[in-house]
Amino acid sequence: MNKTKLRMYNKIAPKLGTNVYVDESSILVGDITLGNDVSIWPLVAARGDVNTITIGDRTNIQDGSVLHVTRKSQSNPEGNPLTIGADVTVGHKCMLHGCTLGNRILVGMGAIIMDGAIVEDDVFIGAGALVPPYKTLVSGYLYVGNPVKQVRLLKESEQDFLSKSAINYVDLKNDYLTQL
Ligand SMILES: CC(C)(COP(=O)(O)OP(=O)(O)OC[C@H]1O[C@@H](n2cnc3c(N)ncnc32)[C@H](O)[C@@H]1OP(=O)(O)O)[C@@H](O)C(=O)NCCC(=O)NCCS
Repeated sequence: MNKTKLRMYNKIAPKLGTNVYVDESSILVGDITLGNDVSIWPLVAARGDVNTITIGDRTNIQDGSVLHVTRKSQSNPEGNPLTIGADVTVGHKCMLHGCTLGNRILVGMGAIIMDGAIVEDDVFIGAGALVPPYKTLVSGYLYVGNPVKQVRLLKESEQDFLSKSAINYVDLKNDYLTQL
């Protein structure tokens, strides 16, 4: 039995870039690829068993978030892999399932993003939002609500915050890495 936080499934183990931090209480299973400087905070569950999970450089996945995918089938030949770009902040207790996220995105605490949804670059998603299947969130906007609605263009300060948040988390995980 394999009890480590990085677990093989069908002989495929998660692949990690350089200077990655994965908290001891998190579990990553199967076909998962993490870029450089990614951080995975306590109690994250990511299951790349029936499709792939890819996470880009400097992205942080915060506490209690759940990441999963949908298998390939006759009606859905590619299934729904989960792809997250670079410099993305995924807040506490989010659910990301079989969706595609670009770069410099903030996913607010408790948000749910469903299969086939696409979030373009530079998007701010409010806490508690629900992004329905196959919906596209357009670059440069704030979205909130259940189901999510476009609210307004991002302010300059919010746009700047998207990259800043990612860098803050890179700094924080570097500090954690020195304390292992
Ligand atoms: C949406 C958000 C960006 C605030 O945007 P804002 O334009 O400054 O909004 P305001 O605080 O001025 O509130 C405007 C309205 O939106 C509502 N609102 C605020 N946040 C909301 C949310 N997440 N979902 C739904 N409505 C929200 C407010 O209640 C207010 O409603 P009202 O006009 O009826 O009173 C912020 O509340 C948020 O959700 N940030 C995410 C933070 C987070 O989760 N970070 C990750 C953890 S590190």
